[in-house]
Amino acid sequence: MTTDPFALFKASQREAWAIFAPTAVFTTPCAAALIEFAEVRAGENVLDVGCGTGVVAITAAQAGARAKGLDLSPVLLADARRNAALINADIEFIEGDAEALPYPDASFDVVLSQFGHMFAPRPDIAIAEMLRVLKKGGRIAFSTWPPELMVGKLFALVASYLPPPPGAAAPPLWGDPAVIIHRLGDAVENIEFQRDEMRFATLSPRHYVATMELTIGPVAKLVSALADDPARLDQFRGELAKLVETYFARNIVRQSFLMTRATRV
Ligand SMILES: C[S@@+](CC[C@H](N)C(=O)[O-])C[C@H]1O[C@@H](n2cnc3c(N)ncnc32)[C@H](O)[C@@H]1O
Repeated sequence: MTTDPFALFKASQREAWAIFAPTAVFTTPCAAALIEFAEVRAGENVLDVGCGTGVVAITAAQAGARAKGLDLSPVLLADARRNAALINADIEFIEGDAEALPYPDASFDVVLSQFGHMFAPRPDIAIAEMLRVLKKGGRIAFSTWPPELMVGKLFALVASYLPPPPGAAAPPLWGDPAVIIHRLGDAVENIEFQRDEMRFATLSPRHYVATMELTIGPVAKLVSALADDPARLDQFRGELAKLVETYFARNIVRQSFLMTRATRV
């Protein structure tokens, strides 16, 4: 029997994120940015937490690293294995939870997460796990969505319609440098931040909303929760399209994100 109070929430996350694969087209360039920012080198042991279809782990392997990936979603892991096989990359992808990493202490030179660990409900537990499996002197690096920008506001809007379970932290707090510094605490030194931008191609804000409904787990969950309340669903769609308008031009939604890098002491 599980003692994890968020077991049910994670089971629903596992189902919800299964539809994410089409959006990996847009996380693929971001993966290259994170690998460069983390200065991943050939021969290093690298872990990709919340790996989805494997974009970060596979990019690390292409840089010569020995990569592993972990994710809640078996459906996305099957994609990750197929993606790795296309270039004969030997990467172990396993099903698991960022809050209970199934690796010994100090097993990696680099621990990475791209828009992944931020969705674990208990940030203190997820970060403790990521730091536990990282060697002293190793690097932790992750990409996250700031609360004050497009995607952070999108997740806040979704949460205002479908609140997370009590005690679950808001994912975009992982995009606030002050919060990150506090959460990493004195387990790390040399914290550095860098901004980058995902350019999400779409025909209009309404097309963007439709794409989110088809590929982003928490949005899809909300749409199915509002299936019997079409007026509220319309209201959500309208509010999201209005938010997107601010960031939409020339068939691109500009989604700025934050990269963080630090060294384990
Ligand atoms: C936005 S997707 C990012 C996937 C991939 N890193 C990328 O950049 O394409 C979020 C991923 O986090 C995973 N995830 C969410 N909560 C998780 C948890 N508690 N433990 C491990 N993975 C989790 C989801 O299954 C999903 O694959």
